Amino acid sequence: MSDHAISDISPPHLLVIGGITAEMREAVSSDFILHDYFDSDDKPGLIRQHSAQIEGILTNGHDGVPDLLISKLPHLKIISCYGVGYDAIDVKAASERNIIVTHTPNVLNEEVAITAILLLFSVARQLPLAMRWIKDGHWASQGHAPLSTSPHGMKVGLVGYGRIGQTIADRLRMFGCHISYHSRHEKSEAPDSYVADLTEMASACDALIVITPGGPSTHHLITADVLNALGPDGILVNVARGSVVDEEALVDSLVHGRLGGAGLDVFSDEPHVPKALLDMEQVICTPHIGSATVETRAAMGRLTTDNLKLFFAEGRVISSVPETAHLLKDN
Ligand code: NAP
Ligand code: 8YV
Repeated sequence: MSDHAISDISPPHLLVIGGITAEMREAVSSDFILHDYFDSDDKPGLIRQHSAQIEGILTNGHDGVPDLLISKLPHLKIISCYGVGYDAIDVKAASERNIIVTHTPNVLNEEVAITAILLLFSVARQLPLAMRWIKDGHWASQGHAPLSTSPHGMKVGLVGYGRIGQTIADRLRMFGCHISYHSRHEKSEAPDSYVADLTEMASACDALIVITPGGPSTHHLITADVLNALGPDGILVNVARGSVVDEEALVDSLVHGRLGGAGLDVFSDEPHVPKALLDMEQVICTPHIGSATVETRAAMGRLTTDNLKLFFAEGRVISSVPETAHLLKDN
């Protein structure tokens, strides 16, 4: 529970790490004293000066919070993440110090599912090639563009079958795709078939969509063997985290035609994307835009700031990450 009584004279101090929207800033500016970490020319000085005051952090899924910073803020009580993935936050360090971590599950399920499906369908239907066909004048000089592959009837394997994975599955079934999934645990009463062995699932599928969390437990889950099993006509879509796919193996498989194509929203070393991926017409790369629409980011922003405000007003939050939920007896 928060020990910050509403009647305290000074509002709680909030460290803002990374960019936030104007709406989010407005939502917190009257309830908190804000310190912008990235805007500061003297970050160590900022932390030294306010370490005894900072009680909350507002961050995002990219910039995160390392243990070193957490250890310098003895009064830190909550870290609110603008994003569902929180692999950039040291949750173990936070939990050990009784610091709540919140994130933004569910409000982005539909958007990220749409992004994954857009990538899959655009690669299968060869949209970059089709557009070039017109631009290069081939339509006029050579006639129709080459035929592409139909997503209808496609066998799609979901690597990760949580909130977003199941949303993707629900939508893809409506397009006539046949779905199987791989995760650590089999879901009871799932409408799709579970495959415990990821390589076996890849060899039986036309496409894989990766939608697990990042972090050590999923590091390079998509190996060269998985990509080889998917095969020369197979498509890999990654909307999870760049770390989940062995990117070197992915580039090698695509360059040598052992994998058919890829739709990639996330990369190993963002914002840097290997040039080889950008140069291949059978690969579509997007700059981590899975949830990046005005509507969805507004919903994520509200949940992020509501978690903070609720915590300091009532000692509870809407969406703790599982690892810190036990710290709040009402959640
Ligand atoms: P979620 O509900 O927690 O689902 C995660 C799924 O991944 C679960 O099915 C889980 O299976 C599975 N999983 C976890 N560790 C695994 C492992 N080692 N091997 C195999 N499967 C594993 O999470 P979500 O809300 O769907 O979000 C998933 C992730 O998507 C986020 O963490 C984030 O990294 C990414 N994301 C990306 C974007 C983007 O902009 N591209 C946007 C939003 C989210 P079990 O239940 O069996 O553990
Ligand atoms: C955002 C995401 O890019 O929610 C996530 O895990 O990857 C995306 O929605 C990001 O976290 C916004 O901060």
